[in-house]
Amino acid sequence: MCNPKNDIQSVKPDNDSTKKCTGKCKECREKKKREHSTLIKSLALLTLLLVTTLSASAQDAAKELTFWDDPFNSPMLPLYTITTLIFIMILLIAFVGFYLVKVVNLLTVEAEKERARQRGVVYKPRPTWWSKFMKQVNDSVPIEEEASVELDHNYDGIKELDNHLPPWWTWLFVGTVVWGAIYLFVYHISDNLPLQQQEYQNEVALAEEAALKFQASQPQAAIDENTLAYEKDAAILTSGQNIFTINCVACHAKDGGGNAIGPNLADEYWLHGGSIKNIFTTVKNGVVEKGMPAWGKNMSPKDVRDVAFYVMSLQGTKPENPKAAQGDLYKPEPAAADTTKVQASL
Ligand code: HEC
Repeated sequence: MCNPKNDIQSVKPDNDSTKKCTGKCKECREKKKREHSTLIKSLALLTLLLVTTLSASAQDAAKELTFWDDPFNSPMLPLYTITTLIFIMILLIAFVGFYLVKVVNLLTVEAEKERARQRGVVYKPRPTWWSKFMKQVNDSVPIEEEASVELDHNYDGIKELDNHLPPWWTWLFVGTVVWGAIYLFVYHISDNLPLQQQEYQNEVALAEEAALKFQASQPQAAIDENTLAYEKDAAILTSGQNIFTINCVACHAKDGGGNAIGPNLADEYWLHGGSIKNIFTTVKNGVVEKGMPAWGKNMSPKDVRDVAFYVMSLQGTKPENPKAAQGDLYKPEPAAADTTKVQASL
């Protein structure tokens, strides 16, 4: 850990028995300081990592349970609280354990130093498991002995050492080969697990199933141009009027009379057909190239129906500044002819 040379030179250069570092030399102190700050940094990083993973998984769960919408009434609250407490406790225990080990180590080292002193031998710190491990995985020839592996060629002062592969590299390589064999067997020979493409298709199938379920659970999803029949329902018309006021007046005026941008919706002339199905389709799909947005993208089918009913209810009203008629005169027709018209306008 500490370089005895410095101490010997600065303290007692000629006394062999003091050839051990007391740990007080400048180098040792700085090294200790460095070690300490690295330790604190890694502990902080570890805590941060754990906390982020914990909150990330909590958020995943929240998507179904909407935990974050109302955390205090969520049924998951006790579980999360206990998990957090246990987590904090584990952290504390780890912290205390770490310092206990450190103290025990310190005492052992002191005891060993004392024993060495009594026996009159130089104290040699025992290698830590980390240094043993590093030695094992690197297994390099120490710099002092490098001459023994030096090859006898020399290009302009550049020499080559005949080091063998470091064991960590070899094991990594062997590991990848073994992993490759396992992968090949599991995915391509035994067909136990789905390949990426299959996995993707499975997920798409699942998502489609979920989408169908969702659609089935939404009654308004059944609202489309095929099932629509206009009726003067007060609730629908009020809702439709609200939607119209918020979204449509800018281009169709507040009474539907039209303005420089949008056509008159109160007259009997229509660019895209005047049946309720036509209106619904126009509002839903828009006439994007002419400046009429496709509201079906942002509105539920129910809202599109409500506002379409409201537009229909404007028939026969007298707007303040009606825009000149555009399109064809629309006369209510029998259902069959109407359907053809819808298809034509689609
Ligand atoms: C950004 C401007 C704009 C807004 C906002 C807008 N529209 Fe339009 N709308 C138009 C234009 C422009 C047309 C004419 C399209 C064409 O020339 O084919 C139109 C056409 C229509 C038509 C067909 C009229 C016909 O003659 O066939 C209906 C119905 C309609 N809009 C309803 C609505 C409703 C309902 C809303 C609100 C939800 C709305 N619009 C919001 C610009 C707008």
